[in-house]
Amino acid sequence: MTRPPLRQAQAWRRLEACRDALAGRDLRALFAEDAGRAARMTAEAAGWRLDYARQRLDAETLAALLALARERGVEARRDAMFAGRHVNRSEDRAALHVALRAPEESRIDCDGADVVPAVQDTLGRMAVFARALRAGKLLGWSGRPIRNVVNIGIGGSDLGPAMADRALRDYADRHLRFRFVSNVDATAFVEATRDLAPDETLFIVASKTFSTLETMTNAHSARAWLLEAADGAETAVAKHFAAVSTHLDAVREFGIPAARVFGFADWVGGRYSMDSAIGLATMIAIGPRRFGEMLAGFHAMDEHFRSAPLERNLPALMGLIGVWNNNFLGAETVAVLPYAQYLARLPAYLQQLTMESNGKHVTQDGAPIDYATGAIYWGEPGTNGQHSFYQLLHQGTRLVPCDFIAFGEPLRPLGRHHDLLVANVIAQAEALAFGRSAAELKAAKVSDALVPHKVCEGNRPSSLLLAQRLTPRSLGGLIALYEHSVFVQAAIWDVDPFDQWGVELGKQLAARVVGEIEARATPLTHDAATNAAIAWAREARGETAARPSHRARVLVLDIGGQHVKARVTGSDEERRLASGDALGPGQMIDRLRPLLEGWQYDHVSIGIPAPVRHNRIAREPFNLGAGWVDFDFEDAFGCRVRALNDAAMQALGSYAGGRMLFLGLGTGLGSAMISDGVIQPMELAHMPYKDRTFEDYVGAAFRDRDAAAWQREVLEVIDILRRALLPDYVVLGGGNAVNLETLPAGVRRGANENAFVGGFRLWEDA
Ligand code: F6P
Repeated sequence: MTRPPLRQAQAWRRLEACRDALAGRDLRALFAEDAGRAARMTAEAAGWRLDYARQRLDAETLAALLALARERGVEARRDAMFAGRHVNRSEDRAALHVALRAPEESRIDCDGADVVPAVQDTLGRMAVFARALRAGKLLGWSGRPIRNVVNIGIGGSDLGPAMADRALRDYADRHLRFRFVSNVDATAFVEATRDLAPDETLFIVASKTFSTLETMTNAHSARAWLLEAADGAETAVAKHFAAVSTHLDAVREFGIPAARVFGFADWVGGRYSMDSAIGLATMIAIGPRRFGEMLAGFHAMDEHFRSAPLERNLPALMGLIGVWNNNFLGAETVAVLPYAQYLARLPAYLQQLTMESNGKHVTQDGAPIDYATGAIYWGEPGTNGQHSFYQLLHQGTRLVPCDFIAFGEPLRPLGRHHDLLVANVIAQAEALAFGRSAAELKAAKVSDALVPHKVCEGNRPSSLLLAQRLTPRSLGGLIALYEHSVFVQAAIWDVDPFDQWGVELGKQLAARVVGEIEARATPLTHDAATNAAIAWAREARGETAARPSHRARVLVLDIGGQHVKARVTGSDEERRLASGDALGPGQMIDRLRPLLEGWQYDHVSIGIPAPVRHNRIAREPFNLGAGWVDFDFEDAFGCRVRALNDAAMQALGSYAGGRMLFLGLGTGLGSAMISDGVIQPMELAHMPYKDRTFEDYVGAAFRDRDAAAWQREVLEVIDILRRALLPDYVVLGGGNAVNLETLPAGVRRGANENAFVGGFRLWEDA
């Protein structure tokens, strides 16, 4: 039986009549005419209470909305989804996220087979992996336990775990650090890893397709970052990567062993996947038991959605209220306003869930749509938003329905904080609904001139979503509530909430454009505006190529007893001049001038074999002339100069996060420690060691006398310093590092050009 187009449906017409009947009856009137409204317009399920009394509808509207749901077959479509039928029609597959949280003993058939055992099997494997990591039993290549987890994924492979990372932080193991890299902008990866020790870091590459451009680009950068630190040992990949995907072949090619691959089925949509293996980072953070509680919360809401009558069904009510506001009151957006700082990423998460699902312009049959579909979701935690955009909510010319989310109990009781938080959310809902009239303002003796400015007309709809406490269980229930309310709306609008064809075109064009940016000779055949933008990118890229990784152009001087070596940003060329025990700073500057001809730089970095304090050389360097102490380099170069002990500069260039001990084994001994990004140069060389000094035992002179004893001494010194300073890893620089025959675990050689890298890095934040 063919059914009429949506706008001709009986219930739709009835709703249009409701809108007309409600014109002129604002929320004040609706409350005045119905004393039972507040009590009646609430519903509860899975620990959540939906209070929708402040929505602009009456009993008749509600009845018409429920009739619309029945007329448009919401229940039948819901049942088809739970039964594993191919409700994702354009991709011809099921949408069975409800199976991800079904209890172990349930049976859910899809395409002729029960899917529950595979789900449970994956959950079990995830639990084993998560427990091992949490217990410090998952070791990196150096033998140190993994304690950093970096999730690399985007969209549904990022937003869920990233949102849950904050939402459930109170339940997380704080010894572990979690980072989320999604954007292809390199700063995302660089920032996420800059203070991490590679040998303690696990990357979870999360991608349903294992082909998403951003994720694969970041995953390959992670691999390179790891291998650089592990001296190219490919075996490290197996210890430092795990993958979550439905495309297991692609994962294998990346070098991730099967034991660390967690799959899920293609009937899990990306934005419905935070409770699948995509939630591995969440499970590691909060542990398998609490992850199970989260799944139980999801499941409780699923069961409610599946079985409760629409009149009391939270997802149905929320979905229908959304249809009412969107299609009948003309609201284009929904503000999601969690009064819980830990839910800061919830609006972003819901943006994908709601807008990727219901941002559609044709019906499931491909027919064009003549009504508004998915609303624009946005939001920020309260009370913060009150001090920025709420002004528009209260007095702006647009209608913005609000979802307020609040909890009865604080996670961190502290003075009056929680009472104030809850008071604010209640007050905001009240202010939006009932406002303040001109008469009230006049009665309060507000001057006539100010009255119009102060009037809040009210009648602005909102719902309160309330739960006792933010827990894994309540979070699961909340997410399932939104998932199913999206589904209800999709059923009314007759769209497919499980496909996302609209994102493909941009991906294809980007693949073409990147080739054109990189191959300058390719003729451009786009429209004029796109051609112009590509031409701009080609031009700009030329500049970036000349300034590889730094915003400012830097001249780096590595001053040694034999040579002063120089490099500048954007060039591979090294220029040098002879130094020696007569070289003073003035003389060096004079001789540098012709040498630096043609080089452009904004800042200078100087590495020098002398102690440097507060950017000033504190003692004359060994093996050079005099006059260095307190020499004013900024005056001489006419720009800002940063000076550093030469070992510290090389250390900075070798630094890969965490606590690093650097020893420069050259003619003498250079030493520095970098701890979580803070450089601490050390003057160890001339400190007493055995009957002489450290340098006497590990310097070049001692090696010339007895190479075998030198090997032993170097290892012993490393051992002593490790015990004293507890570094995460040790890097050996200087000309003699290559002569050390055996490198203990956690010790690696750093390249000499790292001095330049360090010099450039000194200005990276400039
Ligand atoms: O581009 C959109 C999208 O396909 C989302 O639907 C999905 O969540 C995201 O990209 C990431 O996809 P994947 O998990 O396959 O890397």
